[in-house]
Amino acid sequence: MIDFDSKARLWDGNPVFQDRANKIAAAMQAAIPLNTNMRALDYGCGTGMLSFPLKDALGHITLKDSSAGMLEVLREKIAALGVSNMTVRQADLSSQPLPEERYDLIYTSMVLHHIPDTAAILAAFRALLNPGGRLCVADLDQEDGSFHGIEVDVHHGFAREELARLATAAGFADIDFSTVFEIIKDTPEGGTRGFPAFLMVARKR
Ligand SMILES: C[S@@+](CC[C@H](N)C(=O)[O-])C[C@H]1O[C@@H](n2cnc3c(N)ncnc32)[C@H](O)[C@@H]1O
Repeated sequence: MIDFDSKARLWDGNPVFQDRANKIAAAMQAAIPLNTNMRALDYGCGTGMLSFPLKDALGHITLKDSSAGMLEVLREKIAALGVSNMTVRQADLSSQPLPEERYDLIYTSMVLHHIPDTAAILAAFRALLNPGGRLCVADLDQEDGSFHGIEVDVHHGFAREELARLATAAGFADIDFSTVFEIIKDTPEGGTRGFPAFLMVARKR
């Protein structure tokens, strides 16, 4: 399990993460007509990198993450910018009962591979959406485990057909995938390797 608390203070210093968030935000805005009546959930928000570029296009955003360290940095950013349409909550939907609130849009970036039971988290997202609500999942395409290193116990990305099958079984329709970015990492051999990532957009049936 990765200790995100210890990574939180350095997170925003990584330009690749910011570039990734900006590309996902642009792809979401191209795929879904966002509007300021919408209430959204950013699940596994980290320091909120994906929500800041979307905040003016949405009515309200609830940002949830299991890492107190990430949320501490996020709260400081919200205060520094004087953002008034964001609420921050520490939460883990994979181990806690579902809350009462409902959303028009749920988005989650680079989080699903950290959650062991994909079917269960998709079912939780569906339960938290209003009728016709949209889900956006950005994550790695299936890889061989070298993205995190084999000692880290996470999903090795996702095969798109398998994730679409799980999303359909969880009660989503109109499932669409696009490639949104590629993370370039150094290899132990001294070269580089690209890890493509997708945006999946789906609608609650
Ligand atoms: C790779 S980071 C991505 C952060 C952010 N979405 C971004 O794109 O910059 C993964 C985030 O998911 C959070 N996370 C991992 N497992 C979680 C869980 N079960 N519930 C909520 N958050 C979780 C971590 O604390 C971390 O902030």
